[in-house]
Amino acid sequence: MKEVFKSAEEAVKYVATVPPAQGSTMQGVPFDKKDTVRLAFVGVGGRGHGLLGEMLACDGAKVVAVSDPSEANRVRAKERVEKAGQATPAMEADWKKVCERDDVDLVYIASPWEFHTPQAVYAMEHGKHAAVEVPAATTLAECWKLVDTSERTRKHCVMLENCCYGQTELMALNMVRAGVFGTITHGEAAYIHELRGLLLSNAGEGMWRREPHKNRLGNLYPTHGLGPVAWYMNVHRGDRFTKLVSMSSLSAALDEYRDATVPTDDPKRKEKYTCGDMNSSLIQTARGRTILLQHDVVTPRPYSRLNLIQGSKGTLCDYPARVYIDGGHSGKHEWRPLDELKSQYEHSFWQKYGELAKKIGGHGGVDYIMNYRLVQTMREGLPPDMDCYDAAAWSAPGPLSDISVANGNLTLPYPDFTRGHWQESEAGKEWNHRLCDKISIVRIPAGTPMPK
Ligand SMILES: NC(=O)c1ccc[n+]([C@@H]2O[C@H](COP(=O)([O-])OP(=O)(O)OC[C@H]3O[C@@H](n4cnc5c(N)ncnc54)[C@H](O)[C@@H]3O)[C@@H](O)[C@H]2O)c1
Repeated sequence: MKEVFKSAEEAVKYVATVPPAQGSTMQGVPFDKKDTVRLAFVGVGGRGHGLLGEMLACDGAKVVAVSDPSEANRVRAKERVEKAGQATPAMEADWKKVCERDDVDLVYIASPWEFHTPQAVYAMEHGKHAAVEVPAATTLAECWKLVDTSERTRKHCVMLENCCYGQTELMALNMVRAGVFGTITHGEAAYIHELRGLLLSNAGEGMWRREPHKNRLGNLYPTHGLGPVAWYMNVHRGDRFTKLVSMSSLSAALDEYRDATVPTDDPKRKEKYTCGDMNSSLIQTARGRTILLQHDVVTPRPYSRLNLIQGSKGTLCDYPARVYIDGGHSGKHEWRPLDELKSQYEHSFWQKYGELAKKIGGHGGVDYIMNYRLVQTMREGLPPDMDCYDAAAWSAPGPLSDISVANGNLTLPYPDFTRGHWQESEAGKEWNHRLCDKISIVRIPAGTPMPK
């Protein structure tokens, strides 16, 4: 349910309210070491079926149960598990039943958005770690619920933000930590993906993903762009998001496309799409950095997550991946292809597993690397790369942008889901050493401004 307020003051008060903690921090808390990670899948449609295939290729991952209201999808998943040589998994129409089993360590959730938080919460309350598709939550109340449940149950909630594991993104992370771009000042992130056909289809995501276009006006899908930029900026490991302000354009492209492609007697012809085609939100961080975060899934234009990070010594920008580094371009203001620096900065995950990942995995291998990492952290008894605080803070631009736009583009305080644990800490330093190959700057340079 969308969070709606009578006045701007009421909205700010709500957003700024930190509920009482129900447990202690989950930052840096390791998984119990397990040789074999036993999984239950909840939702095996387009995405869940793909993740299942990649999981079956990971050493040490065993799929014991599958749940989906669609019998055809359950059977398709069962057959895939059997084909991979694993025992026939239990099949349930009711997702609660797989969360309640006592032979499951991790529940993998790839259902429609509205179920993500209730399913992750139920899994944690039944003693399982939860891995949940993006966005993990669609309201601020849900964001807090994920954090509070993880802290209370001592189970992790990992949001499956695959884009953090992209070849360019992990190389960018290495370059940022190596200090190539100097003091980081600004990032740009987006989900710009023309999905008009999918939104209006009579199958798959067309059955549910158009709904928020009818009743929301904000940034519906913020995490793919924001996750990697948050990693570059050490968010929750020395920095945090402090403010958000948002603006949406008018809505045009989905209506026009629907009128041009959908038969006149189709009930969809009566729908009214409220969500502006382009949402642009601005986020500020405690260390004085800014982030542009955009969302547009209806305008005809090429795919982009922007993926820009800049600092006092240079800039990396994606689509296509390129860099500009101070003093390295013979005085010409021209980009250089990022590939020229691959031998110096390519991430070790991609050096070691890139070939296999590309052969097996969806989204150019990114999904395999993400799944492999999650299973590896559980098998080695390490903390996860992404925790409940990341899930909450990267999902929060959804509801925050809705509230900002609905209240005259109000600047909102950004909830501190870590309740103060975002400052540089031992857990944050360890995180950096686990994930980055090239570290010369983990500390945020002293003296960076801390705007109020
Ligand atoms: N990370 C990525 O790159 C990526 C890519 C695609 C989709 N996604 C996300 O994955 C999720 C699923 O998307 P999709 O493309 O597979 O959609 P889909 O419509 O193809 O599949 C959804 C599946 O969930 C099932 N389902 C419906 N209600 C359910 C419930 N209450 N419990 C369990 N299952 C239920 C449906 O029967 C269907 O099989 C969405 O959150 C989407 O945003 C992420």
